[in-house]
Formats: sequence, structure tokens, C-alpha cells
Amino acid sequence: MNWSGLDRPTSTSRTFIDGTLGGGGHSWHFIQKLSPNDLLVGIDRDESAVNRVTTLFDRELPASNPNERSTCRVRLIHSSYRDLPQLMEKHDIPKADCILLDLGLSSDQLADRERGFSFRTGGNLDLRFCTDEGISAREMLAKIDEKDLADIIYQYGEERFSRRIARAIVERRKSDPVVTAEQLADLVHRCVPGKIHGRVDSATRTFQALRIAVNHELEHLTKAIALLPNCLNVGGRLLVISFHSLEDRIVKHAIRECPLLKVLTKKPVLPGDLEINENPRSRSAKMRVAERVE
Ligand SMILES: C[S@@+](CC[C@H](N)C(=O)[O-])C[C@H]1O[C@@H](n2cnc3c(N)ncnc32)[C@H](O)[C@@H]1O
Repeated sequence: MNWSGLDRPTSTSRTFIDGTLGGGGHSWHFIQKLSPNDLLVGIDRDESAVNRVTTLFDRELPASNPNERSTCRVRLIHSSYRDLPQLMEKHDIPKADCILLDLGLSSDQLADRERGFSFRTGGNLDLRFCTDEGISAREMLAKIDEKDLADIIYQYGEERFSRRIARAIVERRKSDPVVTAEQLADLVHRCVPGKIHGRVDSATRTFQALRIAVNHELEHLTKAIALLPNCLNVGGRLLVISFHSLEDRIVKHAIRECPLLKVLTKKPVLPGDLEINENPRSRSAKMRVAERVE
């Protein structure tokens, strides 16, 4: 099914916005389908993602000389999708025909030892998408109140043993604070019975909760989802892929209640077995799509 409207015939130029550029996979897919008059905008809160994809596209795409160009124009921006209205004004970006948000974190971030996203690769427990914003997870764990920490782990991680984990972190910081991803994973494994449940390590939920908290992910999403319909042309589509029930709930209610939008997915689109086999991280993905109608 053509959720993005990419295959609809058009004679005018179109603007596609990938609000979560990551490794550039979705943007690359769009670029293959767009024509030289069209514009692809890629945004990421992580500057290293924008730099990496800029290098990749500079290498892979033909020269930007408009007379030679056989692909669409591309503009990559380091920012939050939350700030799209201001970015459109600042960079003279026309209203969009498609805006995509693919929430969560990328494989590049998971593999980056400096930032602690994965307890398998380990490293400094930072967990921020943008290291210039806010405080790192290790700084948060050094000072947060025990009850607030337990609430974060429970709400954002849906972790039943949140109180036990929060207590262990606060006890430990009296003498030897948690500063690395390995230390946090070890501590969680000691608090939660059974290290592996199915294919999921029991530390995954705590890492997810802390990441959502330090990046204020739900606040960015809530604010954006209210503003993005106005950034679309009539007929333009908003696609959101979420990986967490709290994210999905925010998207579901916001698109249902927005008078500018018609929901195209009564139920969320889920990945098939083939996709889950090829990319096990997609198993919890849910995609919702809405179209601007006025
Ligand atoms: C799942 S990855 C996207 C992968 C991408 N679709 C691809 O094909 O490679 C999510 C990306 O969203 C970025 N991100 C998270 N919150 C963001 C925000 N508020 N604004 C912009 N980018 C954000 C992360 O830094 C990460 O690179």
C-alpha cells in the first residue's frame, strides 16, 4: 500500500520531510522515488547522524548542479522535529506532502560506545540524542530522588521491579555511583529475576526509560504532533512509527482529534514476519498514518 503518497502522479514539486533521519534509510528510499524538482528534508536531533548521512549522500548522490541533477534536492538539518514550523520559516521550506517520524534510536546510536545506548557495547552512560542539551543519564542518576526514579522506570520502561532498581541505584551512589552502561546493566540484572525474557534482556526496559526521560522524548512528540498537521499541504500525509505504548497513545489520540486530519489507519500497521526476521528490533513497531483534509 502507498502510505506516503509517493506514487501519486504530480506535475508540481513536492516536499518530503524525514523528521528522524537516523542512518538515512528512509530518506534514501524517498530520494529514489522523488524527481529533480522535489525536495527531501532530513532532520535529526543527533548531530553525528546528520554529519554521517551528509557524507554518505555526498558520496552516493550525483552532483548538486541543477542542470546535471537527476535526483531531488536534499537538505539535512540538525534539530528536533518539534521545531519544524520555525525550521520551515528559517530555511524557506514549503509545506510538506509527507512528514515521517520513525521514533526511538538508530542502529548507529546503539553501536556508539561513547553514549551508552547499548549495554552490549557498553560505555559512558549518557543516553542523550543531542549531547549539548540537558543532562546525561549518569548525571541524572547521581542526583534524582529515589521515588521519581522509580516512577520513570515504571512509566517509561513498564518495569515491574522499578522500585527495587531505583533503591539499588540510590544505595550504590552513596559510595560508587553508576557511570557506565555495563554497571547499570549489571545492577538491573541483580534486581530483576531472569536475565533474558524471550529475546529481550531484562535491562532493556530500564535503559529505554532513562533514554526517554533524559531526552524528554514524550514532550517533543506531544508538542510536535499538535504542530505538524499545519506543516502539511492539503492531501499531505503524516506517518508516525512508534515503539512504545505511550508514544503510540499520544499519536493515536492526537491524529484522531485533529480537525485537519483524516486517519487512514483505523488500526496501526504492524511489521510482518519477514520484516521481524530481517530486523528483530521492528517487532514492537506500530505505524499510524493520517492525511490533511483541509
Ligand atoms: C529509529 S531512528 C531513525 C532511523 C531512520 N528512519 C533510518 O531509516 O535510518 C530514530 C532517530 O530519531 C532521532 N530523533 C529522536 N528524537 C528526535 C527529535 N525530537 N527530533 C529529531 N530527531 C530525533 C534519533 O536521534 C535517531 O537518529
